[in-house]
Amino acid sequence: MPNYKLKKILSQMRDTGINELPSSYRALVAAAPRAKEKTSAGSAGRAPLEKIKKEYAECLMCPLAKSRLRIVFGEGSPRARLMFIGEGPGFTEDHLGRPFVGRSGNLLSDIISKGLKMKREDVYITNIVKCHPMKDPSDPEKHSNDRPPSPDEVSKCMPILLRQIDAIRPEVICTLGSPAAKIMLDRKDGISNLRGKIFDIHPLKDDPCYSVKLVPTFHPAYLLRNPPAKKPAWEDIKVVLGLLKK
Ligand code: URA
Repeated sequence: MPNYKLKKILSQMRDTGINELPSSYRALVAAAPRAKEKTSAGSAGRAPLEKIKKEYAECLMCPLAKSRLRIVFGEGSPRARLMFIGEGPGFTEDHLGRPFVGRSGNLLSDIISKGLKMKREDVYITNIVKCHPMKDPSDPEKHSNDRPPSPDEVSKCMPILLRQIDAIRPEVICTLGSPAAKIMLDRKDGISNLRGKIFDIHPLKDDPCYSVKLVPTFHPAYLLRNPPAKKPAWEDIKVVLGLLKK
């Protein structure tokens, strides 16, 4: 049997909770289609995005649940080849329940449409954490109330992002800003050291065969504050384009 077919069967089996190899080749082949039929999920038994979104609709896993106005799950194509990952929703995102819709979101939309010549709805946009981390959680109406998510908030929220990645299986991930890059790469260096490189990551523990290229770039909010950084950011976007053309 070709290697890729075997990998696919093993991956389907893992997706449906079969962790031990049947003793014979015949049993191995027979088990895979049955396992797939048992679930109503998407390709290879993976849960579709909408199902995952519903599962977390009332999420209370971390303290951000108390202050958030809306969960910002993410949006875009479930078949996106490119996924953008930011740090966490801000004021406007919290109010509208959509990622990157404030000032930095407008710049991200320009990067997608003018730089990548793609439609916003053809990529997938989400964040490391799905609720707005606030300095003063007592007042979601306060402006300039953003803070980075805490390590505990990140670790509680990470399973959602990993399930989104699993459902979409993008070919390229572009992280926006230092925290998103550091978290996805499990590195301590800042964005200036991480950008300008292409990383090959295997984010799914249950499917180590899946790999995705990760391109870190600056956060759009940083580009708004530091316009000269737009030049290197454009280099990063060209790298993304090159990877998508392959
Ligand atoms: N900044 C982020 O990191 N994410 C958003 O969704 C908006 C602003």
